[in-house]
Amino acid sequence: MAKPKTFFIRNARAVDAVNHLKPIELSIQGQTIAHVGPPGSLHPTPDADILDAQNQLVLPGFIDCHVHLRDSGASDSIQRAKEDFSTGTKAAIAGGVTTVLDMPNTNPPTATPEAFQTKLVHARRTAYCDFGLFAGATNDNANTVHQLVHDGAVAVKMYMGASTGSLLVDAPGKEEPFFKSAADHGFVLALHAESQDCLKRHEALFNETKKPRHSQVRPPQCAEHAVEAAMQFIRKYENQTYICHASTAQEVELVRHAKTQGLPVFMEACTHHLFLTADEELYHENRVKMNPPLRSKHDVDALWKALNDGTIDTVATDHAPHTLQEKNQNYWEAPAGVPGLETLMPLMLSAALQGKTTLETVQKTCCENPAKIFGLNQKGQLKPGLDADLVFVDLDTEKPVDESTLFTRCGWSPYTGKRLRGWPTQVLLRGQTVYANGFLHGPLGRSVK
Ligand code: DOR
Ligand code: ZN
Ligand code: ZN
Repeated sequence: MAKPKTFFIRNARAVDAVNHLKPIELSIQGQTIAHVGPPGSLHPTPDADILDAQNQLVLPGFIDCHVHLRDSGASDSIQRAKEDFSTGTKAAIAGGVTTVLDMPNTNPPTATPEAFQTKLVHARRTAYCDFGLFAGATNDNANTVHQLVHDGAVAVKMYMGASTGSLLVDAPGKEEPFFKSAADHGFVLALHAESQDCLKRHEALFNETKKPRHSQVRPPQCAEHAVEAAMQFIRKYENQTYICHASTAQEVELVRHAKTQGLPVFMEACTHHLFLTADEELYHENRVKMNPPLRSKHDVDALWKALNDGTIDTVATDHAPHTLQEKNQNYWEAPAGVPGLETLMPLMLSAALQGKTTLETVQKTCCENPAKIFGLNQKGQLKPGLDADLVFVDLDTEKPVDESTLFTRCGWSPYTGKRLRGWPTQVLLRGQTVYANGFLHGPLGRSVK
């Protein structure tokens, strides 16, 4: 077989330790990175393909380990009005995200071998970026869910409190077997950690209120109780546990303490919890309704501190598209969730440029750590032998988030108008250009497992 063609990238800059950028050159052979080194380390032949990166930053493609692309692979027009694998993964690529991990709360939920296969086959046909699929925990599948991991699920997601969709593990004693199974079968158990009992009690207090504050209907203690309950099981089984969307200072404290004891617990923060506070509810109402809700400035500050000291392992979006029409219903009818795939990279890079965090931390939490936690061995770093998923980023141009250019089918953003730097200009997926200056090429996405 002919050797795959090599092409060369010159005049790029990569994140060095902390916040420095160092000039680099790369070469790509076929789908993988062949070489990364200082300027002058490559020796292309005169007729070689060379891409001049014009001093832009090059990053490993971001891995968003928490997205809801809504698409089960079965036809469901309500869900498809919001997003599908095609539009959601186009949004990912345009945002510099080359791998997404899709959540199981679709219709039907990804909780049986049949549902899993249907989604996998459909995603393989239509995805623009690489993807992994979560399997869903139910009150009935603790003994069988590991088979979905065997079939290729990246991890199992358990809803300890109800959110969008029907997935929920709330029957007495039903949670523990998932922690045991995760330990026995070696899979990562991802948690939507809000306690259902606590949510029900608080929701009942607002029954008569037409327009309650979502942050009060689902208060911090519901998230904290769930993380506390989970910790008991993690101590007992020492299974790898991934706590989705940390939103409160107290959850962070619990995880910081567990990590000092060497427990295998990982924590995710989502962009809306890092960049917005509950005050937004006063102006944007249901648009910023999501589960868990936005929190106080005190909580937001604790998240940034935890991000910078390594307590938070990953930054994800919880990209959860719903239409504005649905959001414009009354509080009780409006669904929870905000889109985020196209704003993750510029939000995080702008934060690094402003000194709220470092470029190194952004690269760790958006590329390296997600790959390590979910076992994506070909992803997450600029290293020879790994997939050539590369994003070129213009760090200089500042521009506002513009809804008219979004690829997500829901067509809106909670950050509209916000001026950001760090927009991707070109994206390579396994060596092929899939995005350049507003244009997409694909679908070329593959399953990571
Ligand atoms: O806000 C949310 N939206 N939180 C979730 O847990 C689910 C998600 C969705 O699927 O809409
Ligand atoms: Zn969740
Ligand atoms: Zn989610």
